[in-house]
Amino acid sequence: MAINVTVWLYLLSLPTWLVAAQSVASQAYTPVAGTCPDGFTLVRMAGSLGNQSLSTSETAYVQARRSQVIPQALKTYLSNVEATNVTLPSYVSSILSGSSSETPNFGIAASGGGYRAAIFGAGVLNALDGRNASSNSAGLGGLLQAATYTAGLSGASWLLTSLAQANFPTIQELVFGHPNATVDNALWAGWNANYNIWTSSSNPVTITEYFTALVEEMQGKYHAGFPVSMADFWARALARHFVNGTYSSNFFDESYTHGAGILFSSLAQSESFASYTTPFPILVSDISSPGQNTSNIIQGNFVPISNPLVEFNVYETGSFDPMLSAFTPTKYLGTTNNSVCITNFDQLSLVAATSSEVFNEYNITNTLSSTFGPVLSLLNSLLPESGIELDAAPYPNPFYGVAPGTFLSSNQTYLTLLDGGEDGQVIPLQPLLVKARGVDTILAIDANFDVTNNFADGSSLIATQNRTTMLSSAYSFPPVPTSLGEFTAQNLSTRPTFFGCNVTSANETTPLLIYLANGGPPHNGEASVTNTTTSQGAYDSSQIQAMLDQTFVIATQGYPASSSMTTDPEWPACLACAIVDRARERAGQTRSGVCESCFARYCWSGSTVGVDAKSGGQAIVSSRWVLTLAVAIGILASV
Ligand SMILES: *[C@@H]1O[C@H](CO)[C@@H](O)[C@H](O)[C@H]1NC(C)=O
Ligand SMILES: *[C@@H]1O[C@H](CO)[C@@H](O)[C@H](O)[C@H]1NC(C)=O
Ligand SMILES: *[C@@H]1O[C@H](CO)[C@@H](O)[C@H](O)[C@H]1NC(C)=O
Ligand SMILES: *[C@@H]1O[C@H](CO)[C@@H](O)[C@H](O)[C@H]1NC(C)=O
Ligand SMILES: *[C@@H]1O[C@H](CO)[C@@H](O)[C@H](O)[C@H]1NC(C)=O
Ligand SMILES: *[C@@H]1O[C@H](CO)[C@@H](O)[C@H](O)[C@H]1NC(C)=O
Ligand SMILES: *[C@@H]1O[C@H](CO)[C@@H](O)[C@H](O)[C@H]1NC(C)=O
Ligand SMILES: *[C@@H]1O[C@H](CO)[C@@H](O)[C@H](O)[C@H]1NC(C)=O
Ligand SMILES: *[C@@H]1O[C@H](CO)[C@@H](O)[C@H](O)[C@H]1NC(C)=O
Ligand SMILES: *[C@@H]1O[C@H](CO)[C@@H](O)[C@H](O)[C@H]1NC(C)=O
Ligand SMILES: *[C@@H]1O[C@H](CO)[C@@H](O)[C@H](O)[C@H]1NC(C)=O
Ligand SMILES: *[C@@H]1O[C@H](CO)[C@@H](O)[C@H](O)[C@H]1NC(C)=O
Repeated sequence: MAINVTVWLYLLSLPTWLVAAQSVASQAYTPVAGTCPDGFTLVRMAGSLGNQSLSTSETAYVQARRSQVIPQALKTYLSNVEATNVTLPSYVSSILSGSSSETPNFGIAASGGGYRAAIFGAGVLNALDGRNASSNSAGLGGLLQAATYTAGLSGASWLLTSLAQANFPTIQELVFGHPNATVDNALWAGWNANYNIWTSSSNPVTITEYFTALVEEMQGKYHAGFPVSMADFWARALARHFVNGTYSSNFFDESYTHGAGILFSSLAQSESFASYTTPFPILVSDISSPGQNTSNIIQGNFVPISNPLVEFNVYETGSFDPMLSAFTPTKYLGTTNNSVCITNFDQLSLVAATSSEVFNEYNITNTLSSTFGPVLSLLNSLLPESGIELDAAPYPNPFYGVAPGTFLSSNQTYLTLLDGGEDGQVIPLQPLLVKARGVDTILAIDANFDVTNNFADGSSLIATQNRTTMLSSAYSFPPVPTSLGEFTAQNLSTRPTFFGCNVTSANETTPLLIYLANGGPPHNGEASVTNTTTSQGAYDSSQIQAMLDQTFVIATQGYPASSSMTTDPEWPACLACAIVDRARERAGQTRSGVCESCFARYCWSGSTVGVDAKSGGQAIVSSRWVLTLAVAIGILASV
């Protein structure tokens, strides 16, 4: 507690603060107003089932990627699967080699769960990466390159934004940086994970100066007339880890921009986008709004499951949820009419911070007396605002007056955005269920903290089943258990599980779901290292490497047929069977060969044997971050 008083007194005794010249980061973070370009349209209505449409830019990107990049990636992937020497049915080879008229449409969804989830997600992407020889030998390499989409929220939003802006490097380079990176050559420096993501340091004086610098970087935005909140503070912190420009040598040096000015929309011009090399990234946030139906808050969560979700992609921001079904250009976020256009609002760091904005969970009263209390005091006294929720991300509402009968925030001046997992859906599946995207198969990576030992247990899938049942006119989702008891009794989170294996002509457009959780130790007897707490804010390289390596084991081990085996030699073939299965269905082929035994082993049978009556039917999702922040703050208070 002593630190809070010290910090607070220090911050309030900065007489020169207001008159100080704005830092370069503050300038680069400030939105800019200008005249709208000819033909500018603030809102695009995205239609509904019969006439739903993607943006023309996304359509063009996906078509180019699916014709110019994915066919070769699938061939490479096929050769890796074939090298495992499991005989594949001819339809699998025919679809993957491009001899069939059907091309699989594959998407990857990576969950929240703080730094742990960012690392676990990175480890799974690495195991699918055709640039890693070990992944190729394991028979999974190439699948990352064959994905049409990636979706991420919270911790995984950090992973996906940093991957996209660093130009899609290998995972080793993404996490640890280029070995020769220096401020001068501007090579990517990696995640700077040895600096605590919450606090930067354990030294109270350093923390104080650091927090002050972050708040200073918000003043340009504030003076330009935009509300600022904890989300901007968090954005400036995340930027030092996941956006270009920060190195050990300049971490605390305020003469650098630290990633301010790098925009989400600007990634559309990056090399990896121009060459269609990167799977199309999508980030997810929740919307909170007055008038929301709080009886739809799933126990342990914060936002009603019935609220609309927002997705961000490099071209557009908005929602395909039927309550809104509208988008605005990401480049012009901050804009609310067709004449004055705002740019420079869609800071990459702000988008990642919005997807991981959890300060509301902590309860503003508690926040005031916590480590972040001084930040709020500073905001209140030096950047005073009224009517703004400081513990959420305020975005000028481009959808004001849109869908007034159904869209909760239609009458709100600002959208109030929060961590994408606060409704209980911690895996960002919704964007990949959008019918117009036509995704066949989804790899759902779950590294949430649901149960003891920081492992994931499947709660998120139950929440998504709940929501897609409510919104059945817009989304279809394969059946998953209705209770956690079933997940646990059938060990569905300690091995890869396929959901939605059986289809009829009525539901063959429902994606097949491959669920891969950080659900327990690997089968090879190693002690778990991937189950760190969500509150852990700093990691040294050796710990991250151990986590990545164990995640590689978890992603490549499969579901061994007997307990005496540590890996399933058929897993690469089985995964390939799942990747092509909807394309097989469309091509009118019958599932056969190893794919039949694979599906018998990997598909959820739908059986309800062993359901724990205590949790029957109720989705219990633990609140991931409350504990996190409490612990992080506890650590600080005891410094
Ligand atoms: C989609 O169809 C609905 C119902 O026919 C119509 O009201 C709506 O305007 C259409 N939307 C678009 C974007 O075409
Ligand atoms: C597959 O068979 C080839 C040729 O017999 C052999 O060289 C290779 O080691 C085998 N690979 C595996 C993973 O068993
Ligand atoms: C790093 O720099 C050294 C010395 O210039 C060079 O030999 C090496 O190839 C560089 N490493 C990489 C990965 O580029
Ligand atoms: C970030 O830095 C990397 C490495 O120098 C570069 O390839 C990439 O284009 C930069 N990204 C942005 C958005 O500036
Ligand atoms: C907007 O509508 C909601 C629900 O009807 C209501 O609770 C809220 O007070 C309204 N807000 C404004 C600013 O009019
Ligand atoms: C709120 O949700 C509950 C449960 O889904 C429903 O029964 C109730 O009618 C809803 N209330 C309103 C005002 O929509
Ligand atoms: C979804 O969750 C809400 C809130 O817990 C609950 O009221 C509702 O009955 C659930 N719906 C389904 C279909 O599980
Ligand atoms: C928020 O904090 C106050 C003061 O500690 C407490 O009374 C209240 O119950 C808390 N609210 C929630 C939702 O935790
Ligand atoms: C990780 O899981 C193991 C059990 O597999 C447990 O012993 C250990 O305490 C867990 N670690 C953490 C940090 O929760
Ligand atoms: C499709 O419908 C059938 C029959 O109702 C059902 O058994 C199957 O699980 C459904 N599949 C999916 C993917 O929803
Ligand atoms: C491939 O992945 C393994 C497992 O994490 C890792 O140890 C290795 O360094 C990676 N290789 C490359 C070239 O990235
Ligand atoms: C899928 O179909 C197979 C064979 O027809 C059957 O054994 C299995 O139980 C079905 N699975 C589900 C989830 O309905």
